[in-house]
Amino acid sequence: MSAAAKHRLRKTRQAARAGADRANAPPGPKYLPGDPGFRGTRTQEIDAMIRVDQAGEYGAQRIYEGQLRILGEGRHGAVLRHMQEQEQAHLDAFNKVMTERRVRPTALHPIWHAAGYLLGAGTALMGEKAAMACTVAVEETIDEHYRSQHDALPEEEAELKAMIERFRQEELEHRDIGLEHGAEGAPAYPVLYGAIKRASKLAIWLSERI
Ligand SMILES: [Fe+2]
Ligand SMILES: [Fe+2]
Repeated sequence: MSAAAKHRLRKTRQAARAGADRANAPPGPKYLPGDPGFRGTRTQEIDAMIRVDQAGEYGAQRIYEGQLRILGEGRHGAVLRHMQEQEQAHLDAFNKVMTERRVRPTALHPIWHAAGYLLGAGTALMGEKAAMACTVAVEETIDEHYRSQHDALPEEEAELKAMIERFRQEELEHRDIGLEHGAEGAPAYPVLYGAIKRASKLAIWLSERI
């Protein structure tokens, strides 16, 4: 047999094997999570909501921890502690839901641990008003985020919906505290506000996916 004929024969056998493999392959999902075009099931979508919320509340708690490290003894200490305690309660609630539903936490946890604290401490070092500007930007982002989740959740998730709505009201309270304590008087407020808001949105986007 000529080399060319052998080559053709080999190719024909390979093609036949590949066809058989395809035919014998178990039926699988068309897309896997992370593939472009993947639309998760309802449960996966709700799991992702819980994952991002737990990450967000963890990050928020770390922001206030960072701010308290710098401003804890100052005149805004009490109000910062009040907000941190509420974030801790939000976090505890999402931790509980996560355990009950066996939702895995975001793999970015160590990043939010550091980034949250640095954002809190960094803005606090810029001054009390900058710390409050950070609160306004973050809490406003969370308000929008919780609002859209609340609308997207089905009626069967009444308990989770109510919890999100309750937390959203408290996040709005935090935003108002920020505004009442001079957030808008922070140096370069529009720039600072815009940058933190964009960073918060990116953190949400990443925590939903990773
Ligand atoms: Fe919160
Ligand atoms: Fe908050």
